Amino acid sequence: MTTAVEHSKIATRLLSGIQPSGVLHIGNYLGAIKNWLTLLDDYDCIFSIVDYHAISVDYEADEMQSKIFDVARGFIASGISPDRCTLFVQSDVPEHTELSWIFGTLTPLGMLDRMTQFKEKSARHKLNINAGLYCYPILQAADILLYKAEAVPVGEDQSQHLELTREIARRFNARFGAMFPEPRTLLSEAPRVMGLDGKTKMSKTNDNYIALCDSSDTIWKKLSVAVTDPARKRRTDPGDPKKCNIFSLHRLFSTQEEQAWSDQGCRTAGIGCIDCKKVLATNIDAELEPIREKWHDFGKRPDEVRDALRLGAGRCRTIAAETMTEVRDRMGLGAR
Ligand code: AQP
Repeated sequence: MTTAVEHSKIATRLLSGIQPSGVLHIGNYLGAIKNWLTLLDDYDCIFSIVDYHAISVDYEADEMQSKIFDVARGFIASGISPDRCTLFVQSDVPEHTELSWIFGTLTPLGMLDRMTQFKEKSARHKLNINAGLYCYPILQAADILLYKAEAVPVGEDQSQHLELTREIARRFNARFGAMFPEPRTLLSEAPRVMGLDGKTKMSKTNDNYIALCDSSDTIWKKLSVAVTDPARKRRTDPGDPKKCNIFSLHRLFSTQEEQAWSDQGCRTAGIGCIDCKKVLATNIDAELEPIREKWHDFGKRPDEVRDALRLGAGRCRTIAAETMTEVRDRMGLGAR
């Protein structure tokens, strides 16, 4: 295996990010992080904790540092080792907001109006619908193109934003000369994990998640009350696994045999939802246990995590400064 620095010289660049808006959950893990793990050897990977994005909704400033730290140790505990990639915090590289301003001048309002995440988030945060939330996809385009990343592994909820990123790259290139790649969207095998309510996307701020650091007891407590097929009212009613979110989670955590057992048992009322959930809880717990242990372990070694972020930010600042020099030059900006 090559080191992160040697690797960065040979491989195509990839970038992805996660907001420090809460603790990482199995949606983030299955939708993004697990995919990142498969890409570490083939790409020059840059992963960011996007704190500027997280302030586009209400947040507590005195909790931000611990949230950033928790996401960082969640990455490393999941196997996103700083020896194999670059990890950094977005606001440690001020060029993100500079490029975002420039991209804002190339983005028609009509395109931003169509963004479903803005519509969904502004419905959830009615008292704080701010310009930052509206311009979120422009900042995301800057996050990616600042590093000329060619691929972006994300969950399905980000696909529309990435279309906009490609459009912004095309517009810049057409006006100022070819400079930016049009980055590909890399979806995982679980691009949309539903929350335990069975209705909405699993989300840090929706309280419908299983966190990567949840204990065995907490996993069981959350799963035991999770919504199943709503039509299955009694233990003796047969259910429909296709309408059951617990069954979707079995597909992500359980063996083929267990999935067949759950499918058959549910359809025939041979098993109850609690039986089905107990097997799922055991499997989720088994997959999360090593991550949880490392997560706690890094809590005792915070300097290691912070050093990785500092090192990563240093590398990113160098790349970002080069890109911005080129951008300003092509656009005729600044005193020369
Ligand atoms: N439920 C999900 N299923 C699959 N992928 C998901 N992702 C998030 N939720 C799911 C992917 O995780 C990455 C990081 O997401 P984010 O933190 O930038 O923002 P988000 O998509 O808004 O995540 P949350 O958890 O829903 O945060 P809040 O509650 O703050 O809005 C992205 O690649 C995303 O696709």
